[in-house]
Amino acid sequence: MGYTLCMCMHMLYSSAKDFANYLLGSPFLLFIFTFVFSLMLVANFYYSKEFWQSCFPRGGSSAITGVFKFDYGLQYGPHNWKDMFPGATGSYQSPINIRTSDTSLLKISERLVWNHYEDLPLKTVIENNGKTVVLRTNYEFNKPTIAGADLLQSYIFDSARFRWSFLDGEGSEHAIDNMKFPMELQATHISRSSQSDMCSNMFGDIGILVISYFFSITKYDNPYLDPITSNLHLIRHPGCKADIPPFPLSWLCYPFKTGFYSYGGSLSEPPCTEGVTWFVHPEPMAISIKQIIEFRSLLGSDNTSRIMRNFRPVQNVNGRVICYNRYDPLNCSSSPNDNCEEENDDEEDQCF
Ligand SMILES: *[C@@H]1O[C@H](CO)[C@@H](O)[C@H](O)[C@H]1NC(C)=O
Ligand SMILES: *[C@@H]1O[C@H](CO)[C@@H](O)[C@H](O)[C@H]1NC(C)=O
Repeated sequence: MGYTLCMCMHMLYSSAKDFANYLLGSPFLLFIFTFVFSLMLVANFYYSKEFWQSCFPRGGSSAITGVFKFDYGLQYGPHNWKDMFPGATGSYQSPINIRTSDTSLLKISERLVWNHYEDLPLKTVIENNGKTVVLRTNYEFNKPTIAGADLLQSYIFDSARFRWSFLDGEGSEHAIDNMKFPMELQATHISRSSQSDMCSNMFGDIGILVISYFFSITKYDNPYLDPITSNLHLIRHPGCKADIPPFPLSWLCYPFKTGFYSYGGSLSEPPCTEGVTWFVHPEPMAISIKQIIEFRSLLGSDNTSRIMRNFRPVQNVNGRVICYNRYDPLNCSSSPNDNCEEENDDEEDQCF
């Protein structure tokens, strides 16, 4: 064994030596070799730079909290994001229209588990970032986390964002059978393991879970939204933040256990990075016209005109499998259907 290795090393060494001698003997070959080698170096540098930029776009800011020049108008709007942000050119983008007849049933053997969503935060802050309202919370002890279903890890609540329009017939980013809702709430969660290094995961999953809720307009105010809507006047101008009376996050993020859609997509605003898991809860929550008008009165980044809309149009599904998750504690071995196990495996593979 050692002898073979030694022979190999020797052969490698002598062929490298022969090659070097050969190169040095012919200036033309030397030139070609140097040229190709430098080309490889440059290409390598370029691609690694691009890779890092896609993870931490524009100077080290995180994929969620980064500040990017974009809006929902003609010049910097969603139709031009592809030219400005490389992440937006991927084929697994969000949001999407969920065609319910095309979804696959995914039987989950465990319900979703919501921890600490009932806890009262120490501090709750709302911010008008010129495009939307962002809500953040601070806790004395544990932050709210979600696990269970077929999630492989637990995810920590990070922030919530709202999507709306000045028209009642649109506003949500996702659509269900082409139907849009007047508002969508997106609760962004970050996986425990990927918090320190978003690039550590080599399989494209960037460790972000976004949970979406829809709103329908109702006659009466939704009291659970009041802590937010009655304080939106404090953040009328872009860049404003306000502390609001803390309330349990479960008031906003209804802790559903089963009966939701899931698919793999992207951040729905620049940098539009892919590898994001989406859960979409189909049953809308209530918001009154009076409450939604508070959102529609907020001013956009020019500090003069209102935020007219802040949703990205639906993107191509491109063959992705959208799952409908239903709690089903009966497993396959107890079912008389022999094909059951295979079907289940298929669904799981396609989904995540
Ligand atoms: C927006 O305008 C208001 C007054 O009209 C001003 O107080 C505020 O500083 C402005 N905000 C920005 C971000 O320019
Ligand atoms: C599946 O069901 C069988 C019989 O009902 C049970 O013995 C087994 O532990 C179950 N497996 C799982 C993974 O739940």
